[in-house]
Amino acid sequence: MTKEQHIRKVYGRRQGRPLRVKRQDAMDILYPQLALSKDELKQDNTLAPHSLFKNFDVKNPMIVEIGFGHGEFLRNNMLKHPKTGFIGAEPFINGVSSFLKNIRDDDHGNIRIFMDDAITLLKSLKDNSLDGIYVLNPDPWPKSRHHKRRMISQSNLSEFARVLKKDAFLIMTTDLDDLAEWMCAQASRHPDFDWTAQSSSDWNTPPQDWYQTRYEKKGEDVGRTQSYLSFRRI
Ligand SMILES: C[S@@+](CC[C@H](N)C(=O)[O-])C[C@H]1O[C@@H](n2cnc3c(N)ncnc32)[C@H](O)[C@@H]1O
Repeated sequence: MTKEQHIRKVYGRRQGRPLRVKRQDAMDILYPQLALSKDELKQDNTLAPHSLFKNFDVKNPMIVEIGFGHGEFLRNNMLKHPKTGFIGAEPFINGVSSFLKNIRDDDHGNIRIFMDDAITLLKSLKDNSLDGIYVLNPDPWPKSRHHKRRMISQSNLSEFARVLKKDAFLIMTTDLDDLAEWMCAQASRHPDFDWTAQSSSDWNTPPQDWYQTRYEKKGEDVGRTQSYLSFRRI
């Protein structure tokens, strides 16, 4: 398989239509300031996430959001928690440009973007360096023969476990029952994670600080119910 075929297989479309003017402006102006380049990654798991932010140190909480789409959730977190560093990974330029357009007038000293595969980013990070990971509405890959492409797998969970601190959170959501069951089963059988739910109301109720993405809203509008699966790194 060529590199290009591999990229298509993992992410689907990376770019759709040409960008509109405001998005292109945001890409030209903000992207160079906020993007994490492949050169900044470390091949040997030694990248301390706080070192990616000006005036942040090991005491500042660090969170990664995987596949942030248009970044509504990421922006809300960025604004609400200025002392927390957020790294968003999203390979799709339409999502990245939309997010950057929306944060142009905000304080954005606590945000970095990685426009590529989130696992490449995680592999570069230091052990025990993150306070949380969000994986919201990951691509479902519904056909059984494509299940191996799903973001939540034993090997990716092991990578999450390596970079998460003890008691850090892993929050996953979806409005697809099959995927909810899959993600819950995968994380429950992984030795490094504990499901925090005590009752069904826990996975039907959005965690604290929730902000609905347009993807979640679309599902709600057609009568689907979102599952919120909160796990703890043990
Ligand atoms: C269904 S969308 C959900 C977007 C957003 N999280 C939301 O809830 O609105 C899934 C997103 O995951 C992104 N994605 C897929 N594979 C990824 C990967 N390996 N690393 C980072 N993001 C990925 C896709 O580009 C897409 O934007």
